[in-house]
Amino acid sequence: MPTSPAPTDGHPVSSPHAPAGAFAEEIGRSVLTVKGLTTELRVEGGPIQAVKDVSFDLRAGETLGIVGESGCGKSMTALSIMGLLPRPIGKIVTGSIMLEDVGDLAQLPEARMKAVRGDDVSMIFQEPMTSLNPVFTVGFQICEAIQTHRPVGRTAARAKAVEMLDLVGIPLPELRFDSYPHQLSGGMRQRVMIAMALACEPKIMLADEPTTALDVTIQAQILNLMNRLKRETGTSILLITHDLGVIAKMAQRVLVMYAGVVVEEAPVRSLFGQPLHPYTVGLLKSMPSANRRSGPRQRLHTIQGVVPSLNALPRGCRYSDRCPDVHDRCRQAEPPLAAPDDAGDTATARKVRCWLHCKT
Ligand SMILES: Nc1ncnc2c1ncn2[C@@H]1O[C@H](COP(=O)(O)OP(=O)(O)OP(=O)(O)O)[C@@H](O)[C@H]1O
Ligand SMILES: [Mg+2]
Repeated sequence: MPTSPAPTDGHPVSSPHAPAGAFAEEIGRSVLTVKGLTTELRVEGGPIQAVKDVSFDLRAGETLGIVGESGCGKSMTALSIMGLLPRPIGKIVTGSIMLEDVGDLAQLPEARMKAVRGDDVSMIFQEPMTSLNPVFTVGFQICEAIQTHRPVGRTAARAKAVEMLDLVGIPLPELRFDSYPHQLSGGMRQRVMIAMALACEPKIMLADEPTTALDVTIQAQILNLMNRLKRETGTSILLITHDLGVIAKMAQRVLVMYAGVVVEEAPVRSLFGQPLHPYTVGLLKSMPSANRRSGPRQRLHTIQGVVPSLNALPRGCRYSDRCPDVHDRCRQAEPPLAAPDDAGDTATARKVRCWLHCKT
């Protein structure tokens, strides 16, 4: 894993580039509040809860990371927020997704949701080619995104699109406006996606593995770009990744997901400094760069076993089958997500779903 394990303090307040005044004061305000979100997928063998009772808030100007192994429900959480669950099998069954100044996205009719997507909330994916249309120029597609949400003419939309291409670091933006997606490198295409996502100045941007498909150098460039744009625009980011190195570089707070549920929530420094849930401990130990510190020849740690199938979950704690610290109680009842009783000063900002840390 190429990126540094040590969390950088990407928080806009403490950044030397952070804008002073009103924006800085607004940090901490909740822009998106997800409460008790449960999302079901009707698959063969019966419905599964891909997301179960997930709650969190995304605050103004922050990057909140969601981390977990493949199949933990990270993408389904984001797609629930965007109203883009796979049809016809996906459905939000309970919970609310309150977006500031808009209301509960879980209740919005599709016509309203269409207006919200790309305007108040936008999303970027791992592979930009799946979101960019190969038969239109990138400039045309950014203009279309702008004109869908803003009553502007072609000239103004073009000017804004060129400005956005410039903002995301595309050289010769006037010329690149007329490029087709396949004429750009993977990194450039991801920059175009970010330009498109930010064109209407959304309140929040959901980024689902935005750099996983890119090589190391380009990955670092895109992450730096996202950090810079977040500082400059104040857009809050929900960043989904399986890579704790990316979390360390980007996020201020983290949710760790396992088999559809949140198992730990913490400020990034606390999570890296004192991980509580045995799953988080396992994820941290399997970071190659963290491992390198303890000796170049050391073998990579892996968490034993695999994420359980959602229609064959173990009784009690979902992690009990893989947990090195499992005890009787873990196999009897699922622990609640609660403030830990052994995390000292950091406890108020943290939550963990583990009987080892919530004894009552
Ligand atoms: N289109 C689909 N049809 C059926 N099951 C699905 C579909 N998409 C996701 N799932 C299931 O829903 C659960 C959550 O998947 P999700 O895509 O949210 O995982 P993820 O954490 O994003 O994983 P990854 O890191 O691989 O992207 C998994 O059990 C997955 O198999
Ligand atoms: Mg995913």
